[in-house]
Amino acid sequence: MKDKISVLLAEEAVDQRIQELGDAISRDYAGKSIHLICILKGSVFFTCELAKRITVPVSLDFMSVSSYGAGTSSSGVVKISKDLDEPLEGKEVLIVEDIIDSGRTLSYLIEILKKRNPHSLKLCTLLDKPDRRVVDNVTVDYTGFEIPDKFVVGYGLDYAQKYRNLPYIGVIEVEE
Ligand code: IMP
Ligand code: MG
Repeated sequence: MKDKISVLLAEEAVDQRIQELGDAISRDYAGKSIHLICILKGSVFFTCELAKRITVPVSLDFMSVSSYGAGTSSSGVVKISKDLDEPLEGKEVLIVEDIIDSGRTLSYLIEILKKRNPHSLKLCTLLDKPDRRVVDNVTVDYTGFEIPDKFVVGYGLDYAQKYRNLPYIGVIEVEE
């Protein structure tokens, strides 16, 4: 069994787009501090690259969530396997996600985090598959790239825990 991966977004294109996002976020939050929430594990690479390009003060926290349900589609019921270390009360919170697919995970997570009374709560995603969306209450404030309904790996995204370390975004075709 060999997986075929073709480049969808080259490393240079991803890095350039992250710089643009960092610039926009730095402008929008001028004079404030940002509390970045990295959703493990997929968002680790993106969060680091983004944080390096934000020029206002940044603090970081990490959360690990998994959605119950079989197969490749998420159920919308989210299990928090690692919660945040810090409270969100009064903070300018920016959730950093690798990819939004159905939107179920984020929809559930946003409801949980809102109850912790952040001053503001926004969402930044590297990738978005808008054609796959099944919820209507997830507003994305910063999007790296909108991509077609293909399964992608790299830059933190995995297939069966593999390929997170690819420096580009690739479309994977699994050969049985
Ligand atoms: P959602 O609840 O359907 O939006 O699920 C989003 C999660 O599914 C992401 O955080 C990823 O972990 C995973 N996911 C969705 N599409 C892909 C993909 O193309 N490659 C890798 N993981 C994906
Ligand atoms: Mg994820």
